[in-house]
Amino acid sequence: MPEVTLSRPSDHVAVIRIDRPEAMNALSLSVRQQVAAIVNELNDDDETRVIVLTGGEKVFAAGADVAELNKRTVLSNQFRLSRVAWDALDSCRKPIIAAVNGYALGGGFEMALHCDIIIAGDETKVGQPEVRLGIMPGAGGTQRFVRATGKYQAMRWLMTGDQIPAQTAYEIGLISEVVPEAEVQSHALKLAEKIARLPPLAIEGSKQAVIMGAEASLPTALAFENKIFQLLFASEDKAEGTSAFLEKRKPEFKGK
Ligand code: HXC
Repeated sequence: MPEVTLSRPSDHVAVIRIDRPEAMNALSLSVRQQVAAIVNELNDDDETRVIVLTGGEKVFAAGADVAELNKRTVLSNQFRLSRVAWDALDSCRKPIIAAVNGYALGGGFEMALHCDIIIAGDETKVGQPEVRLGIMPGAGGTQRFVRATGKYQAMRWLMTGDQIPAQTAYEIGLISEVVPEAEVQSHALKLAEKIARLPPLAIEGSKQAVIMGAEASLPTALAFENKIFQLLFASEDKAEGTSAFLEKRKPEFKGK
């Protein structure tokens, strides 16, 4: 049985689901390889405009597989493969929405932090408990956390490994939205459908500008933004979007 499945519940929306309930969706190497393969496939698939990444209604993912970590050594093959899934998520051009129920801890929360939007349930707990295992976040957890919240929140949570209630995570800027636990999946799907109706090149351009620009100086980032903005004037969707507005009709975007 595959531990990661792909479904296409509506036009242009793909849902990747991690399904390893016996281990709270712990991200074994095999699970991460399956996620990577599907993300890479969707990145190249013209029909897919938005991706939802979820662990289903009970748990997003309780971290890397601690049994695997226990056996891992510096030089083990596992260690060399430690970028599996992260590179695929990092290089995905399309928006990814994390739909998070239950727990997103350790590598599980780092997986959510690789996404562009994080929707969590009101009983969900997120966080980076790695220090309690004698390690630390190793898939961007320290860096994405501090960039989202600033130093003093990052230190408070990373140095204790405490679980962070979703509402607190929302208030410190670590997740996008909190909704009732039972509505996480449907809310994430509706949001994906809304984004999928918008022009995909403009969405892709916005994602690129936000992520790449955040790493550059403001003048460089603004110049980068302006280049992408200008490129969109070559798109059919720009002609369609502006004409539809003037003609008072609904636009139909093609991703061209
Ligand atoms: C392997 C795990 C697991 C994990 C849970 N399980 N988390 N197995 N790796 N990360 C297994 C348990 O061993 C148990 O198996 C079953 O799932 C149910 O878990 P319980 O602990 O019994 O459930 P509960 O009491 O409800 O507690 C839920 C929990 C707790 C709070 C999420 O399971 C927990 O603290 N898990 C570990 C969280 C963690 O430390 N994550 C960081 C990992 S390090 P059995 O067989 O006993 O039923 C990491 C580094 C990332 O992520 C580095 C980059 C990749």
